[in-house]
Amino acid sequence: MTQIPARRTILLATGAATLTVGCSEYGGDSDSGSSSVEASAGTELAKTSEIPVGGGKIFKDEKVVVTQPKEGEFKAYSSTCTHQGCQVSSVSGGTINCPCHGSKFKIADGSVANPPANKPLPEQQITVKGDSIELA
Ligand code: FES
Repeated sequence: MTQIPARRTILLATGAATLTVGCSEYGGDSDSGSSSVEASAGTELAKTSEIPVGGGKIFKDEKVVVTQPKEGEFKAYSSTCTHQGCQVSSVSGGTINCPCHGSKFKIADGSVANPPANKPLPEQQITVKGDSIELA
């Protein structure tokens, strides 16, 4: 007589883990009334007084660099280097400078002042309202 081994299907009740999620009361009230989808357009980047004349300032989160080549004249460019995509790290000596391979871009028009980059930094639209600089 051969005995057929009893097959047992073991059901692991993994699905029964009762994690009590919910009741997440951490004040995440996300302005349910106004849908402010645009995180960039119309957002104030800086006060005009923050941008030095003949220099500029890098806004890492927005990936924008704002310059003031002449008093009262503001320009904005992408802060992503056109060489290999590093983020530019400083504005000095009239140029926007990339730390990776030494490219420099002119604050007045974003054009290449020093290779290896061979394309200008793309200009970004900004609006200056009073003393406030906003992304357009
Ligand atoms: Fe900027 Fe190379 S990535 S110089």
